[in-house]
Amino acid sequence: MIHPSRRTVLRSTAAAGALATVPASALLWSQPAVAGTPGPEQVHLQYGNEPSREMTVSWASAASVRRPRLRLGTAHGGIGHTFQAETRTYVDGLNKVETYTHHTRLHGLRPDTSYIYEIVHDGATPVRGSFRTAPGRERAAFRFTSFGDLGTGSASWSKSAIHGAAAVRQVEQFNPLFHLLNGDLAYANNNQDRQPQCWDAFMNNMSVSARNRPWMPAPGNHEVEAGGGELGYASYHARFDLPDNHTRDFCGNWYSFQVGSVLFLSVDGNDIAIEDDASIDPATGRSLYISGYS
Ligand SMILES: [Fe+2]
Repeated sequence: MIHPSRRTVLRSTAAAGALATVPASALLWSQPAVAGTPGPEQVHLQYGNEPSREMTVSWASAASVRRPRLRLGTAHGGIGHTFQAETRTYVDGLNKVETYTHHTRLHGLRPDTSYIYEIVHDGATPVRGSFRTAPGRERAAFRFTSFGDLGTGSASWSKSAIHGAAAVRQVEQFNPLFHLLNGDLAYANNNQDRQPQCWDAFMNNMSVSARNRPWMPAPGNHEVEAGGGELGYASYHARFDLPDNHTRDFCGNWYSFQVGSVLFLSVDGNDIAIEDDASIDPATGRSLYISGYS
């Protein structure tokens, strides 16, 4: 079973109330960018176990980088603490490309509160985003959006179309608190010679909205990839950091989170439908069935 390294829970006393009072205009890091250093990309958010107090900021880099990290603040309160990111990598079993992802788990946030953040690593130009935490576990009005089968947003990839880019912009226009990203994400398994690159394109497309609000995914049959480990989820596991389901090898395959008084469940439809994923491994001529594990 291929699985990314264990997620390190980044604990900090840096609750919002501990944020230093530095003008927001000073938020931009003054470190020099180094020519040729790949910057953060594919930035996206996910709730932690408690959406009113936990958020995970994730991104990728085109190469191995030094000291990936995040600075958290508020528009009015200025810069807070710096949080180190955990790096996870995986190697696509078909084309042997290595993907570098970085995840910073934030704890102790204030419910129903807006934050700004910057992410960077040594030598890179910082990238900025924002989010709002969920209300606490009481009755509260909120808006969310939901759809699946997104694709990369570019017709240069099999199973993708420009509508995938328009859909992301439409979600953003709705200004939801969060988005449910129902399964069949990148369709990388239909682009077998460039599975990781297809994912990169997908993540950059969804980042247009997902850097500003959590996009909570469920795996579909197109996330099952030849060369992606026993279940084919190596890419999904590396790129997303989702609420803990108290398993060692299946984090993100199913999970739940509560916003206000509403409980949301994400399940692995592959294990329910028992569908041939159609990701035929060139080495064996066979595809995967996922059955019975969840
Ligand atoms: Fe689908």
